[in-house]
Amino acid sequence: MDSGLIHIPYMRPERTSRQTFEWALENARQADQAGLTEFMVAEHATQKWECIPTPELVIAAAAMETERIKFAPMAHLLPHHHPADLAIQVGWLSQILEGRYFLGVGAGAYPQASYLHGITDLSANPARVRESLEIMEKIWKREPFFHEGEFWSAGYPEEADDGEGHDDHKLADFSPWGGKLDIAVTGLSVNSPSIRFAGERGFMPVSIYSGSSILKTHWETYEKAALENGHTPDRSKYHVSQTVFVAETDKEAKKLAMEGGVGYAFERYLWPIWKRFGMLEGYIKDAGAQPSDVDLEWICDNVWVVGSPETVIEKLNKLYEFTGGWGTLQVESHDYLDDPSPWFQSLRLIAQEVAPKIQLPFSSSAAG
Ligand SMILES: Cc1cc2nc3c(=O)[nH]c(=O)nc-3n(C[C@H](O)[C@H](O)[C@H](O)COP(=O)(O)O)c2cc1C
Repeated sequence: MDSGLIHIPYMRPERTSRQTFEWALENARQADQAGLTEFMVAEHATQKWECIPTPELVIAAAAMETERIKFAPMAHLLPHHHPADLAIQVGWLSQILEGRYFLGVGAGAYPQASYLHGITDLSANPARVRESLEIMEKIWKREPFFHEGEFWSAGYPEEADDGEGHDDHKLADFSPWGGKLDIAVTGLSVNSPSIRFAGERGFMPVSIYSGSSILKTHWETYEKAALENGHTPDRSKYHVSQTVFVAETDKEAKKLAMEGGVGYAFERYLWPIWKRFGMLEGYIKDAGAQPSDVDLEWICDNVWVVGSPETVIEKLNKLYEFTGGWGTLQVESHDYLDDPSPWFQSLRLIAQEVAPKIQLPFSSSAAG
């Protein structure tokens, strides 16, 4: 299994933009040095706790200070952007990163962010995602077209040629680096329409782990849609995001998770949001529990993956066994700005002690 970070970043509301930006860069540097393979940055224009509105700014700055790690916005919310702007920006950034970039796309989770962009009817967002990608892919081809669509108009102009070999008429080439861009699609819900779309197009699926049964439906939905559309579903390309905290002992890990940034964000922000999105239901079902059983310690034991490297390997192998597994574990980042060393130690243990012991296809001998 590979390990990455998804930087959302669940900052305490009192943090400044400067602190948030610098924390993001420090996470990218540390993740790169620890050996994590991917650094995803979320996009939220309205959420105080998820306060990076433009992931491309973080990615551009962090890329200059790292060597190996790959970056992706996860996700650019396609309904909120003009596809021509996004196509040019994404293509240019992928060229700047010279292969260390892939694109994550999503429909958008928060109605406030849609409202900010003039969208009051969210039901058309999946159609917006499709039309936006269609336009972006045409722009990246750099062949003349004009599209007057349901949501946007855009085109690619003809390159004038005076026939005398001058280059003053040339159009800039902002198509993706190497002529190809890996695209990932985020999915949350049971029988996720986004995951189905990823399968239809042969894009990579990225799920938030919200219970093993729900994750199973994601892979089944993806696999079916991929096969029906002539794509080969490949679990090694499957990304799953989870809250994970590792320390030398189980006791230490639990204390650092519950009393640190993870517990702080869950108590004040994520737990209420997850209730609203029904995201705890899968975990409650998995554990055979009742909603009234849920408190922070229950969440620590049943929702997050917390413990020593040995315990976390065992927990992840159990999840692999039930769900079939995935290629990259995308650790959800949290705010350990006041005392960063346990957080970065956790990332090192995940990348160096845990991830190498978990393998696809799942087999108990891989449990190590
Ligand atoms: C890994 C992951 C990352 C996401 N990142 C964002 C984000 O940065 N901003 C946002 O508004 N929504 C984000 N979402 C939510 C998506 O925009 C969208 O609401 C969701 O994928 C819809 O899934 P569904 O089709 O399964 O209902 C993310 C979802 C996942 C699974």
